[in-house]
Amino acid sequence: MASIETVRTAAALRHRIAAWRSAGERVGLVPTMGGIHDGHLALVHAAREGCDRVAATLFVNPKQFGPSEDFATYPRDDARDARLLAEVGAELLFAPGLEEMYPEGFATRVSVSGVTEGLCGPHRPGFFDGVATVVCKLLMQALPDAAYFGEKDYQQLRMVRRMVADLAIPVDIVPVATVREADGLALSSRNDYLTASERQNAPTLYRVLSAIATRLEGGQGSVADLTVWGLGELEGAGFGPIDYLEVRDADTLEPVEVLDKPARVLAAAWLGKARLIDNVAVRPAR
Ligand code: PAJ
Repeated sequence: MASIETVRTAAALRHRIAAWRSAGERVGLVPTMGGIHDGHLALVHAAREGCDRVAATLFVNPKQFGPSEDFATYPRDDARDARLLAEVGAELLFAPGLEEMYPEGFATRVSVSGVTEGLCGPHRPGFFDGVATVVCKLLMQALPDAAYFGEKDYQQLRMVRRMVADLAIPVDIVPVATVREADGLALSSRNDYLTASERQNAPTLYRVLSAIATRLEGGQGSVADLTVWGLGELEGAGFGPIDYLEVRDADTLEPVEVLDKPARVLAAAWLGKARLIDNVAVRPAR
């Protein structure tokens, strides 16, 4: 049976990773909050392809949950998570307690402006600062060669890239394509909050984003008109409130009105108790 070593302190984590690196091995880090599913496992697969050793982290980060969000009910099953990560070849798991990450007196906040200002930013105050702070700390604790992030959380990925560039953190940030159910729904631990009938309607989100991307690429409609159409489709499928449905520059995340550079169609919308987010690429016609 595959085995994984769990460490709870940054000192132990850094020691193990430094030993690998000094033996000439390339180390990939996969940060997670647990609730492991095939989306997370795709990150481990990608890390295995690009690196000799893979370490994962499991920490449900309180700083990135708002007061009315699901911190208390977020799925927690460390033994299951460790087993799933081990099965796909992660060899080291950093699962720190709160005290290790935020000891008494902890007073630092990492805040990235620009890419965090629209989209999820206004709907989740404090979220991106919480993510930036914990990801910065995890990267400094682990000091890996590369770290893997899912495109599903596209704004998070862009923010991490910006932070690593700005702070000259010596790690390659590697994006991994979104893993979906057969009907298109992006895998997320929050999909478990959907009722059976909501689950049936949930793939509409991906269908709408894909249709907007295809039509934009084919010159069949403006960003403004297709956005209005998409909002109607989402409302018709029972989504609401819809936090946003927008087309943004793929790098800067600035709003796009005319498709002349690689872009992304992104949305976040509530379906019952689940806030679903998703995004797809749009490439300008040549
Ligand atoms: P979490 O939601 O557990 O996600 C961990 C990583 O898995 C993120 O990089 C996320 O983008 C990726 N991921 C989630 N669902 C995916 C899917 N369907 N396909 C591909 N990748 C997917 O994101 C976080 O945790 C936290 O914010 C974290 C970065 C760990 C900081 O606390």
